[in-house]
Amino acid sequence: MKAAVLSQYGDASNFEIKDVKIPEIEEGQILVRSFASSVNPVDTLVRKGKLKLLTGLFGEHIIGSDFAGVVSASSSSRFKPGDEVYGFKNAAAGHAYAEYVVVDEDNAAIKPSNLSFAESASLPLVALTAYQGLTREGKLQAGQHVLINGCTGGVGCMAVQIAKKLRATVTGTCKSAHTLLARELGCDFVIDYEREEIPADGRYDLMLDLAAQLTLSDIEKSLKPEGVLVTTKPPSDGVGEVLSSAIDLLKARMRMYMVDPLTADLDVLRSWVEACDVRPVIMKSFPLELTGEAHAMLEDESVAGKVVIEI
Ligand SMILES: NC(=O)c1ccc[n+]([C@@H]2O[C@H](COP(=O)([O-])OP(=O)(O)OC[C@H]3O[C@@H](n4cnc5c(N)ncnc54)[C@H](OP(=O)(O)O)[C@@H]3O)[C@@H](O)[C@H]2O)c1
Repeated sequence: MKAAVLSQYGDASNFEIKDVKIPEIEEGQILVRSFASSVNPVDTLVRKGKLKLLTGLFGEHIIGSDFAGVVSASSSSRFKPGDEVYGFKNAAAGHAYAEYVVVDEDNAAIKPSNLSFAESASLPLVALTAYQGLTREGKLQAGQHVLINGCTGGVGCMAVQIAKKLRATVTGTCKSAHTLLARELGCDFVIDYEREEIPADGRYDLMLDLAAQLTLSDIEKSLKPEGVLVTTKPPSDGVGEVLSSAIDLLKARMRMYMVDPLTADLDVLRSWVEACDVRPVIMKSFPLELTGEAHAMLEDESVAGKVVIEI
């Protein structure tokens, strides 16, 4: 099969298209003929070798998380050959930038019937990050006010739509160039972070920080007394504030989490996509042969939505 192979960690230009052996499945796994993947910030970290204690020190690597394709072989009672599926693999396990991907049955679901494979592959990691952050960690309720910091990135585009689906009031932050998209996605209020501050009047029940640009004192001033900060990365603070961050964690007002590739959550997402409550936002698609350019785009340009890789 064809795969984008990294002969060594490092620059985005290190990807090479090679013919490699189709991987074999074990009990509880499926082999997916994948037609698309996408680029997530974590994939760029894996490419640079920042997670090599998890991804392996030596040898060639096939990386990538999201996939969407057709089951070609199955050792799972949940899926049969011919099923159209989507999902994501833990970024450390990788192997999604390839024609065939081995997936645990718990990390896949039937893909939305109204989306192409490319559109479907743009969703899993970012949409589940948004969904799990807002619901499992943030316990967002209808009528509450949520601030989404970084509302037009991969996760942000999903978080705005999911928060509106959950009938929350949504404020999103983004740069000037993305404010129109933020409104189109459903933000009730948009803060252009290049010109405006986040109101320091304790109005938010939940702050979902996707940019790690807030300081803990900003957060303290903007959250309601019982409000919660949920973050995908630690806030950008110095040593003293990291200490107070630990105290906040103990007070359970701040939660940092890792996304989990769960079938049940992918099923919820599919139902919302099929009901047209949530839609993919794709900035650009690249063929597998240009995987390096796809990575460079996410790293070097101010991307709104997702960069997709078609296989
Ligand atoms: N813990 C987990 O399991 C998990 C899962 C997924 C992602 N993540 C992490 O979550 C973060 C977001 O992921 P992503 O896929 O959405 O990344 P992304 O597509 O690169 O988006 C980054 C977002 O940050 C915004 N941003 C940058 N500077 C900002 C500032 N000063 N104020 C407010 N917003 C700012 C960008 O907005 P503009 O383009 O408008 O500047 C953009 O919306 C990444 O760090 C990623 O590694 C963690």
